[in-house]
Formats: sequence, C-alpha cells, structure tokens
Amino acid sequence: MLVQNKFESMCGIVAYIGSREAYPVVLKGLKRLEYRGYDSAGIAIINKGLKAYKKQGKVANLEDELVGKEMHSHICIGHTRWATHGEPSDRNAHPHLSGDSKLAIVHNGIIENYAQLKHELKNQGHIFKSDTDTEVLVHFIEEIRNSNFCSVEEALRIALKRVVGAYVILLIDQDNPDTIIAARKGSPLVIGIGKGEHFLASDASPIIEYTKEVVYVNDYELVILRADELILKNSSNEIQTPYIQKLDMELATIEKGGFDHFMLKEVFEQPQTIFDSLRGRLDASKGTLNMGGLSEYAGVLKDAKRIIIVACGTSWHAGLVAEYMIEELCRIPVEVEYASEFRYRNPVVGPGDVIIAVSQSGETADTLVAIESAKEKGAIILGICNVVGSSIARLSHAGAYTHAGPEIGVASTKAFTAQLAVLCLVGLMVAKEKGTITAQRFQHLLDELDAIPDKVTSILALNEHIKIIARKYKDARDFLFLGRGYNFPIALEGALKLKEISYIHAEGYPAAEMKHGPIALVDENLPVVFVATKDTYYEKVVSNIQEIKARKGKIIAVVTEGDQVIPGMADDVIFIPEADELVAPIISVIPLQLLSYHIGVLKGCDVDKPRNLAKSVTVE
Ligand code: M6R
Repeated sequence: MLVQNKFESMCGIVAYIGSREAYPVVLKGLKRLEYRGYDSAGIAIINKGLKAYKKQGKVANLEDELVGKEMHSHICIGHTRWATHGEPSDRNAHPHLSGDSKLAIVHNGIIENYAQLKHELKNQGHIFKSDTDTEVLVHFIEEIRNSNFCSVEEALRIALKRVVGAYVILLIDQDNPDTIIAARKGSPLVIGIGKGEHFLASDASPIIEYTKEVVYVNDYELVILRADELILKNSSNEIQTPYIQKLDMELATIEKGGFDHFMLKEVFEQPQTIFDSLRGRLDASKGTLNMGGLSEYAGVLKDAKRIIIVACGTSWHAGLVAEYMIEELCRIPVEVEYASEFRYRNPVVGPGDVIIAVSQSGETADTLVAIESAKEKGAIILGICNVVGSSIARLSHAGAYTHAGPEIGVASTKAFTAQLAVLCLVGLMVAKEKGTITAQRFQHLLDELDAIPDKVTSILALNEHIKIIARKYKDARDFLFLGRGYNFPIALEGALKLKEISYIHAEGYPAAEMKHGPIALVDENLPVVFVATKDTYYEKVVSNIQEIKARKGKIIAVVTEGDQVIPGMADDVIFIPEADELVAPIISVIPLQLLSYHIGVLKGCDVDKPRNLAKSVTVE
C-alpha cells in the first residue's frame, strides 16, 4: 500500500443505501464519528433530484437546520469535515456538487494536485463555489464524464489516475439514484453488509448497530454499491471477491454506559481491557505464553540485531516503556522513534531490523508512512494495534491486537495500558525464546501480569480521593511530572494527558534530569507529580523529591502501598499496590489518567473531544 498524503484530513464519512429512511441512519452515524474531530457537517440525499445540506459546526447544527424539511430518501451520503483547504464554513463543508448539480461528493483526504486541475477546469469554464480540493475533484469527474460520454464510474476511474493524494470518496448521481460509488487510497473505508441494505463509514462505529458483517476496502479499490449488490473492483477494473469479516464488538462498547464521559468509562474499563489483552495469551497457572501469529516471529525477534519501535504520542510512550522491558528481558538493543522523525531522516534500516509499530488506531499517518518505507528497505514490520483491520495492522508482516475495544475518548487511556500489557508479553516471549530469562523470573512475571487487573480495580476505588487532589491543583498554571526508569515514560504520559484534557501546560522529565534545567521553574506555585513506586530507583527518587521540597514545590506522589518515607514529604499521596517494576507502569499510569480527567472536568473542558485534537491523526 502506498500512502503519499501530506495533509490528509481527519474527516468522517457515512453513507446508507437500502429500504430504511437513509437520512436518520447517516445522521446517527455522523454523531458516532464526532470523536474524530471536525468543524462542519453535511449530507446529500436523492428525492426528486439531488439535495445537499451542510452547516459549519456540530452535527447538531445540521440536524436543527433540517428540522421540518422533506428528508425522505433511501440513499444518503454524509460527512464531517476537518478543514484543510479553505476555512471552516458552510460553503466549504461537504458534500460538494458538480457544475450541473447532478453529482454529489464527500471526500476524506487531500487532492495534492488540485490547484493544477482547478486551473485547467477554470479554463474549460467551470465555476467553483468553495475553496476546497474536493469541489475540484467532482468538477473534474463531471468534465471527464461529459467529454468522454462515459458513466460516472468510468469517469471516476479515469479521474483517479490523474489525482495525486490520498482519499476516500463517495459519489452519488441524481441520474442513478440506486447507486453509491466509492473509492479509497490511504484512508479507511468500511462497508457494512445488511439484508437488502448497505452502509459505508470511516470506521465500524456507525455500522455496528445494524450489522456485524463488514468488508474493509483496500487501497485502489472501487466500490459500486446498491441496496442488494456490492461490486468491488481493482484499479484495472477487474472484479474482486469481497473478504467479509465479522465485527467482534457490541454497540454498548461504543456508548457511554452510564459514565459522564467516554474517557472516564474507558479508564474504568481497564481491569477488563487489560484482562482481554492478556486473555488467550497468558496462562499463569500453567506458566505458558502464546502470542498467536506473532509467535512465528519469535525467532526473528530473537535474532534481530536491534528492534526499532515507531509510534506517536501516547503509543510512543508505550514504546519507551517497552524499550526498558525488552532490553532488560531480551538483551536486544531497542530504539524508540517518533514515527514522524524516523521517516524523514532517512534512517539506516534494512534486513535484520525488526520494526514494531505501536498504534491504537492503526491509521496514524506518520506511523503508517514510517513503516511503509522501512518495509520497502527490507525490515520486518510487526504491528501492535487496537483497531482490527486497520491500515497498520494490514501493512505489518505480523502483529498482535491489543483488544482494548473501541476507544472513543480522544485521550488514549485503556489502549495505552493494553499496549503495555501486550508489549510486556512480547518481551517475555522473546526472552524465553532467547534464553535470557530464568524459569523462575518468567513465572514471576506471568503471575505479576495476571494480577494486574485486580490491582487496577483497587486503584480505581481511589477515584474520589484523586478528585479531591484535582480540586486542590486545578488552577495551577504549570505542572511537572517526574519519574525514573520504568516510571519515566509514565511521567511523560501523565504530562501529555494533563495537557490534552485540561489545557494546563505540563512537562514530563526523568526525575534526575530535572536539576539540569526544569528545577528553575520550581516555586510554591508549581505542583510536581512524582511517580515514585518502590523500585530500583526508589532511593534516588526520594532525593529528587527532597530537592523539589527544598524549593517549596508542591509534591503529589504516586507511591507503593506501605511506603512510609515519601508520604512524610509529599503534600498529597496516592497509594497504589505493589508490583514488579517491569509491570508497574501499567498501574502507575491509572492515577495520572484520573487526575487529568478530574482537572479537565473541573475546568469545564470538553474532555472527550479536546480542542484542536482528533482521535485518529491521519495528517502527516
Ligand atoms: O492511534 P495512535 O496510537 O497511532 O495515535 C497516536 C497519537 O496520536 C495518540 O496517542 C495521541 O497522542 C493521543 N491523543 C494521546 O492521548
């Protein structure tokens, strides 16, 4: 798969064709995709002609606008737009129409050569109503159809040969009211198969309510969809057999289930999601570990001259923890790379290297493009993804799903702890294969992992206590998060979570590094969160706490139950159960997630959809 997109957008796409009223299905689907981040929404239906409606702002604005309008139709395409070309506005929202208003298009992605195409089309007399690349595309298709006297499908195929960029496109045609045409390159598209009806969406969440049978469209495929017919073609116009998969999720798993926010629900799901990430893989009672498809690569991993972990954001933090785990367990050098940097600095990578791509969504453009070029250079690619069937999962030679279920809150929580659990299993699998772990330590760590879900449950019982701490510090201007060893990446993750959710400036540092600069920030107004569990670094961290205390910083400490030293020094303490330091990050991050959540809520922030952020960052 080739991904060339430089600025692909994070829009959402939903469509329906069948015997139901199509508009309510699409409207509901757009609401389910709101988590992706967007600035405007629109739909098109065919009922006595093609009608398109679009509105800047939330899907609810569009819904209000359409109250009382005749919306009857059995075909509907819908879109949530995240602006790339042209400001967020009604005018620039999708769908866009052809010059004769017979074709409507919604598009997720970027047409990189749109300026050239627009110039040519203007010379041919086309007039544009928006600033978007998408409107150029629908005019281009119209121009080809008119000048070649061909079908819309054929015109689209010809148009895509000239288009540079990434896209998912849905097209409807007033003269063919029983067909939706779709195409994909570099952006996700799922088809839901019902009885005499079909659904299309950027991910499965708008579809799951109606059917569990889905087809993931591949790059360069064209879809011709009718109520009772699905035709899939490759770029050479050859018919493909759709690979129908069964979705393994329930509607309840993508709804809030009584919690105020998805984020809180997802934090509280962690005993179960961590259990699910281990289930079928770890059997502590028998002392066994089975990593399914990944087991076939245990030998490759064992012999790897180095392992490179590529990821972004929270997944990158999981990669950092894995660096500590894998180096300790397997004695293999591990490098952890920001995917965006890895790709562009022309890294030395090739046969013998194993790349582990870590991604919740499996669609992050930076990560996807990074592993694509490493694969071309001969590296083995292993994926650790949450979203089943995602692009990274499909591009990888092998991998393991984290099984955390759909993560709707933009801030990653349960996906992170599931990543840590799976990466720990990978480390253990390779260590066993390589003989770098004793049988006793192997069994001990299996037992430790097995015990994690219960420990998480006991930490969640501290929710009210953490809320009180949040109230005390919610007005701070800055925060510092410090930790050492396995807890250093957790300090980074704590800072990222707070920034995302509460918009408070926060920095994470290795606790010892603090005295090389950040200590200058410390005064009586600066809360400093120490992740200071009982581990190899404990005594050193105690000294670091003293250094902060001496400068009047406020100490919030996450410590191991039974600790009697740090509580005497800290302003606020959160006790968590004892755990081996190798697995401790899986639990020490939980109080930090809750702290960020409560501070965000107390400050009135939109914690599930923080400003400027999108769940799946398909922008390079
Ligand atoms: O889907 P991915 O794990 O590849 O996403 C990577 C980052 O975009 C993601 O972790 C981001 O940092 C989250 N907002 C963190 O909460």
